[in-house]
Amino acid sequence: MTAAAVRFESHRLTHPSTSPPPESMVERRYTEEEEALEIKSLRRIIAAYANYQDAAERDVERYERSFKMLPTAHKKLLFHLGLKYQSLRWCISMNASFIMKMLEAFEPPFDMSQYVDDDVHAHPSILHDHSHMDCTHSSERGDCSIIAISRSNLSLDEQHDSPKEYTKRHEPSRETDNNKGGEDHMAGCSQPVGNMGMSQGAGIACNGDKNTGAAAYFQDKDVSASSAIENVALRHCTASSLKLNVPPIDVDKVRCIVRNIVRDWGDEGQKERDECYKPILEELNRLFPNRSDQRPPSCLVPGAGLGRLALDISSLGFVSQGNEFSYYMLICSNFILNHTQEANEWSIYPWIHSNCNSLSDNDQLRPVSFPDIHPSSAGITEGFSMCAGDFVEVYSEESQESAWDAVVTCFFLDTAHNIVEYIEIISKVLKDGGVWINLGPLLYHFADSYGPDDDMSIELSLEDVKKVAYHYGFTMEVEKMIETTYTANMKAMMQNRYRAAFWTMRKDASRSKACKPR
Ligand SMILES: C[S@@+](CC[C@H](N)C(=O)[O-])C[C@H]1O[C@@H](n2cnc3c(N)ncnc32)[C@H](O)[C@@H]1O
Repeated sequence: MTAAAVRFESHRLTHPSTSPPPESMVERRYTEEEEALEIKSLRRIIAAYANYQDAAERDVERYERSFKMLPTAHKKLLFHLGLKYQSLRWCISMNASFIMKMLEAFEPPFDMSQYVDDDVHAHPSILHDHSHMDCTHSSERGDCSIIAISRSNLSLDEQHDSPKEYTKRHEPSRETDNNKGGEDHMAGCSQPVGNMGMSQGAGIACNGDKNTGAAAYFQDKDVSASSAIENVALRHCTASSLKLNVPPIDVDKVRCIVRNIVRDWGDEGQKERDECYKPILEELNRLFPNRSDQRPPSCLVPGAGLGRLALDISSLGFVSQGNEFSYYMLICSNFILNHTQEANEWSIYPWIHSNCNSLSDNDQLRPVSFPDIHPSSAGITEGFSMCAGDFVEVYSEESQESAWDAVVTCFFLDTAHNIVEYIEIISKVLKDGGVWINLGPLLYHFADSYGPDDDMSIELSLEDVKKVAYHYGFTMEVEKMIETTYTANMKAMMQNRYRAAFWTMRKDASRSKACKPR
C-alpha cells in the first residue's frame, strides 16, 4: 500500500512572546531568535518522547519500593503485584517501541544541530511547546548516540509476547520468594525487561548506570534495532541537546498523546468519536448535500489534534485542512496518516500510567490496536492537508480571508488566550454564507496559568461567546448540548463528562458589527 502522503505544511509554531503580534504584520519571516526558540522547543518535545520509557519505568520502580515496604504477610497476600509490575514494564516497552518508530519517521523542519549549547541550562518555562492538552535523560556522554532510550524498546519485531506470556516466562518462583520471606521476590522486578529477545547486557542497567546501558546498547548485534535508535538520535539531536531533564509536565504530555491515539484512532475511541465527530459530520453532510468531485466544498479544522476529524471530513468529500500547533500532536498524526500500511498495525497500552480506578489489572493492562482504519484507504478528497502553525498567526493572513466554506472547531475554542480573537478569525476566514460548526466545553486552558509570563486568558460564559459570535455576523441555526468525554478510559471507575456546547452558525457578513480592517 502506498502512504496517504498527507501534506504537512509548516508555519512558525512558537509564540515569540505573549504580546500580540504587530498589527502591520503582513508576512512573518523567521528571525534567528524565533528559529532558535522553535528548534529548542522541538528538541524538548523529542526529548520528552525519547525519555518516555525511562519516566514510565521510574513509576514502576516507585510502585516496587512501596511494595517492598509492606509487611511480609501483606506481600504474600499481594504476590501477584510483582507480576503486574513485570507486565507494566513490558507494556511500557511496547509503547516505547511505537514512539521510537514515530520519531524515526519524523522529518524535522529544521536543522536540529543548531542552537544546542544553551539548551542544557534552558529553563523549561522559556521553551514554548504549544501544547495545552487536556488529559488532564540522558547520559553525560557528549554524543547523540546516547539519547536516553531504554534498551528494551528496540525492536517491535522481537516483542511477540503478550504481557501475560512475558510475566509467565519471568515469573518469580513463589517457593523461592516465600523462602526469603518475600523480601527479595520484587528484586526480579527491578531488572530491565530489555532482555526480551535482546542480547544480554544491553539494557539500561538495573543499577541505574545508564551510561553502561547506553554504551552496551550500541554494542548490540541487532543492527536494525540499533540503527533505528541511531537514526532518531542522528536526526533529532546533537551533542548536548538531550541532556535536558524532562520535566513532569512533558512526561504527562506524551502520556496524553497516547490517550489521544485511542480517541482518534482506536476502536475503543469509537464511542467518543460517535459523540463528538459524528454530529459534526452529519451536520456537514446535511449542509453540503451537493459535494461534487469537481468543486468540493472546503473545510478548516483548527486544533485538529491527531487528525481523525479532519480525515473523516476529507472522506466525506471536502477539501479538508487540519491546523495544529503542537509538535507532540503533529509528530504522531504525521506518523499515523503517512506511515501506516494497514489497519490495526500498531498496539499500545494506553491505560498503564495510572493504578487508580481500575476494576481489574487486566483492564489496566489491556492493549488498544490502531488505527481502526487505514488512512490511505479512507477515500480522502484531494487537497487534504495538515497545516502546522498557530491558528491565530496562520489564519490572520490576508490570503485566508473568505477562503473557507466551513470551519469546524471541536474541543478547540477554549484553547484561546483571547477567544474573541479566535471568533473574529473564524468569521474572517469564512466565505459569506459559510458555516461554523462547534462542539466543546469552555474549560479555558489558560485559566489557571499563574506564572511569570502572566498569560492572557479571556474566560467568557457560553452566553457571552454567542454574543461575540453575533457581533461578528454569525446567526445561530442549530444549538444543543452534547454529553461526552475527552480521552476517557471507558473501563475506568472515573470518567470526566462534559456537557459540550454544539452549534451551527452561519456567517452573514451584512450583520457583522465588526469594523472592516483597513
Ligand atoms: C483539546 S485538543 C482537541 C483536539 C481535537 N480537536 C479533538 O477533538 O480531539 C485542542 C487541540 O488544539 C491545539 N491548539 C491549541 N491552540 C492552538 C492554536 N493556537 N493553533 C493551533 N492549534 C492549537 C492543541 O495543540 C490541541 O491539539
